[in-house]
Amino acid sequence: MDTRGRPLDEIRARLREARARDTPFASGRILGSMCTAPHPVALEAWRLFEEANLGDPHLVPGARALEEAALGSLGALLRAPPGGRGVFVTGGSEANLTAVLLALRKRGGREVVLPESAHFSFDKACSWLGLRQVTARVKADGTVDVDDVAERLGPQTACVVGIAGTTELGAVDDVPALGRVCAEAGVPLHVDAAWGGFVIPFARRLGRRLPEFDLAVPGVTTLGVDPHKMGLAPIPSGVLFARDARDFEPLAVPSPYVSVERQPTLQGTRNGAAPAATWAVMEHLGIEGYTQVVRQCLAVTDRLAKGLEAAGFPPAIPPPLSIVVFRVADPAQARARLREKGWLLSLAPLTGGLKVVVGPHVTAEAVDAFLEVLPSCAEAA
Ligand SMILES: Cc1ncc(COP(=O)(O)O)c(C=O)c1O
Repeated sequence: MDTRGRPLDEIRARLREARARDTPFASGRILGSMCTAPHPVALEAWRLFEEANLGDPHLVPGARALEEAALGSLGALLRAPPGGRGVFVTGGSEANLTAVLLALRKRGGREVVLPESAHFSFDKACSWLGLRQVTARVKADGTVDVDDVAERLGPQTACVVGIAGTTELGAVDDVPALGRVCAEAGVPLHVDAAWGGFVIPFARRLGRRLPEFDLAVPGVTTLGVDPHKMGLAPIPSGVLFARDARDFEPLAVPSPYVSVERQPTLQGTRNGAAPAATWAVMEHLGIEGYTQVVRQCLAVTDRLAKGLEAAGFPPAIPPPLSIVVFRVADPAQARARLREKGWLLSLAPLTGGLKVVVGPHVTAEAVDAFLEVLPSCAEAA
């Protein structure tokens, strides 16, 4: 920062130059992201509400009303019960941290039982909260072995985690079976549907055989979902639901100088643009619109899976949703070579391969172009 500042045109030029170095979703070359391009109506809503601070809601009753409406729609989609409550958070990491803390306050204990496939945000949550992770085995189909979970429960279990759409494979755990085990043991069950929450309900409508995973499943106590992933909302937008609104109470502290008496979530000052944008895109697309998005992603996934098979890189498992993982001799090297050619993929560390997440920004043309370059980048050195 200069003492006298700098002229606006200089700042704008520098901004454009920095942004030109980023890969936009519109390029179709981002193949490893759980997020995607926000819907234009979400960006429009964002711009309208970008200065709104929901930490002090009497300043922004309009933003507050949209927040409530967004939570209502999302609660209906995820079948939240009448006594439940949803809160906006910054994404899956904050939802998972908060859910583990809610469980800890509710039940006590020192351990979290979670699948090997759990997102690293649970490593953070457990490390920050001084809890021990007890890892349950994952089966060949990428879902957690529920019997193994049951065997790992004990007096120190604070909660169990189930995943509806794993980060690596998009696998959907058998949440009804986990719910039965947890209800019987009196242990809270948190479902991480950060990515899958905006995919599974629509894939089921399209006839995919996938387990139920939402708040109507007996035994599920909390559920996290990220509009900023497949909900097509801008970052950051996450939501955490608790089946029982009273579960949030132990986290709430008095917030005396602002216009809400108590705050139960991490953020103080918080963005009103996220709920407004989330409301706008949900209201605009509706169930049919999201179903269409998922239909397209599944079709492109199928094309990619077949193309990989033909090119000698068969998917590690048939894609449960719109994530494809395939093995290569040296994943880190292949990823680096693909990156040099402008293709951005993620590693799939549990499988030992590379991962493609087919969001709506990944077109059939992009997949065909990617399949052309893959063999030369993936062959052993
Ligand atoms: C299943 C799952 N949970 C949680 C997260 C963390 O979400 P965020 O990065 O938005 O905090 C991710 C991120 O990809 C995820 O895939």
